[in-house]
Amino acid sequence: MRPVHDLLNPADPGFARDPYPYYARLRAEGRPAARVALANGTHAWLVTGYRQAREVLADARFSNVPPSGAGRPRPDSPAQRARACLARHMLNSDAPDHSRLRRFTTAAFTPRRVDALRSRIEELTDKLVAEVAGELAAGGTADLVDSFAFPLPVLVIGEVLGVPEADRADLRAWTYRVGSPADALAAGEADEAWVRLHAYFTELIARKRREPGEDLFSTLVRDTDEGGLDDGELLAMAFLLLFAGYETTMNLLASASLLLLTHPGELAAAHHGGPERWAAVVEETLRHASPLEGTTWRRAATEVDLGGGTVIPAGASVLVVLASANRDPERFASPDAFLPGRYLDAGDGAGERAAAHLAFGHGPHFCLGSRLARLEGAVALPRLFSALRGLELAADPSGLPYRPGLLVRGPRRVPVRVP
Ligand code: HEM
Repeated sequence: MRPVHDLLNPADPGFARDPYPYYARLRAEGRPAARVALANGTHAWLVTGYRQAREVLADARFSNVPPSGAGRPRPDSPAQRARACLARHMLNSDAPDHSRLRRFTTAAFTPRRVDALRSRIEELTDKLVAEVAGELAAGGTADLVDSFAFPLPVLVIGEVLGVPEADRADLRAWTYRVGSPADALAAGEADEAWVRLHAYFTELIARKRREPGEDLFSTLVRDTDEGGLDDGELLAMAFLLLFAGYETTMNLLASASLLLLTHPGELAAAHHGGPERWAAVVEETLRHASPLEGTTWRRAATEVDLGGGTVIPAGASVLVVLASANRDPERFASPDAFLPGRYLDAGDGAGERAAAHLAFGHGPHFCLGSRLARLEGAVALPRLFSALRGLELAADPSGLPYRPGLLVRGPRRVPVRVP
C-alpha cells in the first residue's frame, strides 16, 4: 500500500463528513504513527491504530502541556491573554500538576453523585421532548441538534456546575467557535469568543463568591479561597468542565439519533430490548461515531521510538485519532457497521462482547465525565424515541453538514418530522 501523503484539511466539509477512508488508509500502512502535512502548513504525527493509541495515551513521554506560543496567537492581544489563561487546565497538564488539579473535581463525579442526577435528567429530557413535539406540531419539522442534543447536556452540566440557564446560548456560540479550526470561521470570530468566555467565567466566579450554592463552582471557589487553586486555575477549570461536559455529549446524542433514524431495525430492537439494549446503542454510538475525533494534542517530550522504524522526534506534535482507533479492523469485526448488539452478552456463551472502545480516552486523562455522559444517553434517547414514535429524517443523511476540525465530531443538524 502506498504511503498516504495527501494534505489533511480538517476544515474541508467532505473530510468533516467522512474522514474514515483517510484514516483507514493511514492504518493500513501498518506503522504506529504517520507523519501528515496539515493544510495550515504544519506537520503532525497521527496515531490511528487501536493498540498504538492505548500505548501512546499511557506513555508519559507524550506531554499534554502545549508548547508556549501554540495555536498561532497574536502577540499580546486580549484574545491571546484570555486564551492563555483559560488553557491552564488539567487536560493541558502533566503529573504532578495534573493529579493535583483533577483531585479537586473527582468528588463531584463519583458514581453516587452522578446516579443521583437521573431523575433530574429525566425531567429535563421530558421538557425538551415536549418542546420538540410542539415544534413538530406547529411547523412540521424540528432540528434534534438545536432542540434536544444541544440543550440537554448544557442544562445538565449547568446544574452540576451552577451555570444559569439564561446564559447557555451565548456559551454555546463561544465554545463552538473556540472548538473550530480558525480557517472555518470569519476573521476575528475565534478571538472574540476567547475574550467573551474569559469575561463570562470571571463574572460567574465573582457571583459564586457573593452567593455560594451547593454546585461545583461554589465548592471550587471555596477551595480557592482556602488555598487549593489559584484564581487562574479556577477560571481554566470552569472553562474545561463546561466545554468538555457538553460539546461532547451533544455530539453523542446527535449522532445516536441520526444512527437510529438511519437504522430503523436497530431502533425497533432498542424499543423491544429495554435498558440494556439502549445502553448498547450508547456504547456503539461512542465507538462508531466517536464524539471526540481525536484526543487533545500531545507533544513528544523527548525522542520516542515507537518500533517498526517509526521514531518521533522530540518536540513533535502527536494526535491520537480515537475515531480511527475505534474502527480498527484488528480490534473490531465489521468496524464500519453500526451494530449495538456487539455490546450485548450473547447469553448463550457463543459470542463475546466487543472490545472496550476508546471514545473516553485512556490513561491518566481518561474522561472524568464518562459515567454522566453514558447516563444522559441511556436516559434521554429512549424517552425521545418513545414519546415521538414514527419520527423520521427530513433530509438526505448523506448531505448533512458535520462539525469541522479534528477535535469534536458530529452532525450540525438532524432535521426530523413525523409523517
Ligand atoms: C460523550 C461524551 C464525552 C466524551 C466522548 C468524552 C471524551 C473525553 C476524552 C476522549 C477525554 C480525554 C482527552 C485526552 O486525553 O486528550 C476526556 C477528558 C475529559 N472529560 Fe470527557 N467526554 C465526554 C463527556 C464529558 C462530560 C459529561 C464531562 C463532565 C464535565 C467530561 C469531562 C472531562 C474532563 C474534565 C476531562 C479531562 C480529564 C483529565 O485531563 O484528566 N467529559 N473526555
